[in-house]
Amino acid sequence: LSASVTIDPAFVVGPVRPRTFGSFVEHLGRCVYTGLHDPEHPTADADGFRGDVVDLTRELGVTTVRYPGGNFVSGYRWEDGIGPVDQRPRRLDLAWHSTDPNLVGVDEFMRWCAKAGVEPMMAVNLGTRGVQEALDLLEYTNVPGGTAWSDRRRANGAADPYKVKMWCLGNEMDGPWQVGHKTAHEYGRLAAETARAMRMIDPDLELVVCGSSGSQMPTFGDWERVVLSESYEHVDHVSAHAYYWEEDGDLASFLASSVDMDHFVDAVASTADAVRAAGKHDKRINISFDEWNVWYQKRAESRPPSGDDWPVAPVLLEDRYNVADAVVVGNLLISLLRHTDRVHAASLAQLVNVIAPIMTEPGGRAWRQTTFHPFALTARYAAGEVLRLAVDAPVQETAKFGDVPVLDAVATHDPETGGVVVFAVNRSLTDDLALDLDLRGFPGLRVAEAVTLSNPDHTWSATADDATSVLPQPNTTAKVADDRAQVTLPPVSWSVVRLE
Ligand code: AHR
Repeated sequence: LSASVTIDPAFVVGPVRPRTFGSFVEHLGRCVYTGLHDPEHPTADADGFRGDVVDLTRELGVTTVRYPGGNFVSGYRWEDGIGPVDQRPRRLDLAWHSTDPNLVGVDEFMRWCAKAGVEPMMAVNLGTRGVQEALDLLEYTNVPGGTAWSDRRRANGAADPYKVKMWCLGNEMDGPWQVGHKTAHEYGRLAAETARAMRMIDPDLELVVCGSSGSQMPTFGDWERVVLSESYEHVDHVSAHAYYWEEDGDLASFLASSVDMDHFVDAVASTADAVRAAGKHDKRINISFDEWNVWYQKRAESRPPSGDDWPVAPVLLEDRYNVADAVVVGNLLISLLRHTDRVHAASLAQLVNVIAPIMTEPGGRAWRQTTFHPFALTARYAAGEVLRLAVDAPVQETAKFGDVPVLDAVATHDPETGGVVVFAVNRSLTDDLALDLDLRGFPGLRVAEAVTLSNPDHTWSATADDATSVLPQPNTTAKVADDRAQVTLPPVSWSVVRLE
């Protein structure tokens, strides 16, 4: 198979946004406890946070971390997680049928963010709680001092406010599984009033209102329309969540998951713009794609405990990712970058152990899943501006999406260095793809590096014992002559080509 792509510096979509490379930490399974936090671990700090996980988070290139949920936040009392650790209550977490010992709360999380060099993105509980509790938390985190909650923070050891900028107004309130689930009208009103009041404390916040939990939700589209009609002037972003998985061995459809993500983003942006027009609003609402990943939701590990069993930090949602999963993760990042004009933030859900690129053994090793690599390489190399590409590629038939191009790609161009970086996926199940890049808009570029993640066995998964035998490898086929580049992409592969 062969495909050609024309890249031109004039085709700018928008800037590469650091917040595209966010992630998510929820009090769920072993994400916090024995993931981030493991006081017995040899690398643990005074707060009990694992140093090896902090190092891997930095290597992954994560920029923001959303916290503390997820479904968990809809029953969470943030006050349980402050003050002396030995006096904190244990609580039932209804979302994941677990017990939360509250060993980690907002102060510990802020200290972890400082260590990992990431921006915190907080979510407030609009399931079982409302405006007042959101205001209390904001006062605790962002008011310098001289009030009841800000002085409590100071007494708890944080003299300076945390200045949290991004806030999620609840989580997946469209989902019938959500504790405190609401209709679009009920939620839209509550979100608007919570946002309005939060801005009275801090007008510079960036507020995310809940969009749909997936494009397959029966209320998708109408939910966004109603919620934004109620809250438009008070919020900045609407959220989007999407999880993909290979169903019934249909690899071709799975590899085309970004087709759904593209459609999702376009549909939400159009709905937001329709509300803008109808409401005569000036500003534009953008998208915070604050949960996205591959997640095998039907596997037993995704089922919470039941009955009288309310464990602390059970093994939940610990998906082991293979090479095809990593190709899809890389492709979803291509889709997010391609929509950088409307997607202003995104969070890979989640960071550690729970549908995560980083895995840990309690007290033991930490390792990188296959999905770690496309994320880390994209976060490291995407720079400057995102360019729209002119693509000419053969198509492959899929059961879910009809004919889809075997190639999906995006490029970034850094006007400061002149460098161009191409991220590309070959979705063919069987064939190499000979890719020709027309670079006449960038005379004189040379290949600085080309790297490909693939394996003849696309079901290969990393383990603690072997996380390295299938890694992105140098792609030695990449070359440039007369301002055209050629590179061969193996079947079921993700690649990055850096041109300087
Ligand atoms: O990321 C796992 C769960 O997926 C989150 O708690 C929830 O928001 C979504 O349904």
